[in-house]
Amino acid sequence: MKFPQDFKWGVATASYQIEGAVHEDGRGESIWDRFSRTPGKVLHGHTGDVACNHYHLYREDVALMKELGVNSYRFSIAWPRIYPTGKGQVNQRGLDFYKRLVEELLNSGIEPAATLYHWDLPQALEDQGGWLNRDTARYFQDYAQTMFEQLGDAVKLWITLNEPWCSAYLGYGNGVHAPGKSDPNWYLYAAHHLLLAHGLALQAFTSLNLPGEIGITLNLSPQYPASDSPQDREAARKADGFQNRWYLDPLFNGFYPQDMPEFLSVVAAKIQPGDFDLISGDLDFLGINYYSRGVVKADGRGGYQALPPAGPVTHMGWEVYPRGLYDLLLRLHEDYGPIPLYITENGAAYPDVLEQGRVHDPERTAYLEQHFAQAARAIEAGVPLKGYYVWSLLDNFEWAFGYERRFGIVYVDFETQERIVKDSGRWYQSFLKCNSKCNG
Ligand code: FCB
Repeated sequence: MKFPQDFKWGVATASYQIEGAVHEDGRGESIWDRFSRTPGKVLHGHTGDVACNHYHLYREDVALMKELGVNSYRFSIAWPRIYPTGKGQVNQRGLDFYKRLVEELLNSGIEPAATLYHWDLPQALEDQGGWLNRDTARYFQDYAQTMFEQLGDAVKLWITLNEPWCSAYLGYGNGVHAPGKSDPNWYLYAAHHLLLAHGLALQAFTSLNLPGEIGITLNLSPQYPASDSPQDREAARKADGFQNRWYLDPLFNGFYPQDMPEFLSVVAAKIQPGDFDLISGDLDFLGINYYSRGVVKADGRGGYQALPPAGPVTHMGWEVYPRGLYDLLLRLHEDYGPIPLYITENGAAYPDVLEQGRVHDPERTAYLEQHFAQAARAIEAGVPLKGYYVWSLLDNFEWAFGYERRFGIVYVDFETQERIVKDSGRWYQSFLKCNSKCNG
């Protein structure tokens, strides 16, 4: 496998999933605090109250990253630590945590890559409608601007939003994620306001003339037709519209996909003049979270139906399909390029067990190795892929699944907060060592 010399190799995490310390240093309540405390929403009633206690153990965690040999770390900033009610007065103690973290990273030779929104909306903003309220996008711009001003010299890689599809659809469409609302129209309203928030943050970034780069991270999943029939191909096109193009098209082409009239007629109510100029502002890169593919067939009623996975699956039930990453990268380059691409998340959950101080996770190692190989193939085919972040550094709070799904390359004993590097983490470490020798 050949990767460019300046390739960014990293690990990724998110604030609510690892930090804990939810009541400390003036942090405000987030929608995930509220949601995880609502009975029946999260498996076993787990919450992020303590999580990996990273808020206190960040130095150890950075040391661990250094030991693994990554050169970049993708983390997210908790908006309610900076603005406890989403707006108004900056909470200096919250800001200071991220300053300490960034300093620790830089001192360890690890480049920080900061995501501004990985799902932990301040609850006070949700109380005013959350992403259904257009004003939330304005407050996001103010928060983003604060972070650019405070950290813009040290952080050179910024991601506005993580997976707006999930925030909008799972949060407001089917209610599986916080804030747990459920309405098909709301899904589209929330998605539009999230995209607008992204555009406004981009505008703030550009106006500050900062040295770094800015992009957005989408969860993208190639959708394959179950057969070659025109009906199944049409089904795959529709699934692709729902999953991928509803976000890619406005970002890159300046409008929603024209072949989705049923969605267009709903979202029309929320579009204001100038929105798409902001949303389609120049991106420095596109971040991709890739986990699996979809295979769909026509349902006979003009819609589509997803087929169950054909191959091996992870603990999430997601099919392991490395080839999909290659197909996705080439398709993005062809349809939306040329834009630098980063894989901002890729990884797998397996039911790991700790045995005599070791965690043997050959499936995860194989998963990573096969996906790295597909990324290398895409680079060879001409795709400007610039970096790869493994999800995740640590086992953590996996949203509605609580601590039941382990994605880490480092095992976390949630009783003692002990970290144990899994075999896959050791594999990544030796891959990075060899890679810098062979390509460096
Ligand atoms: C992605 C999320 C991330 C993590 C992985 C497994 O959708 O961005 O926080 O939960 O899935």
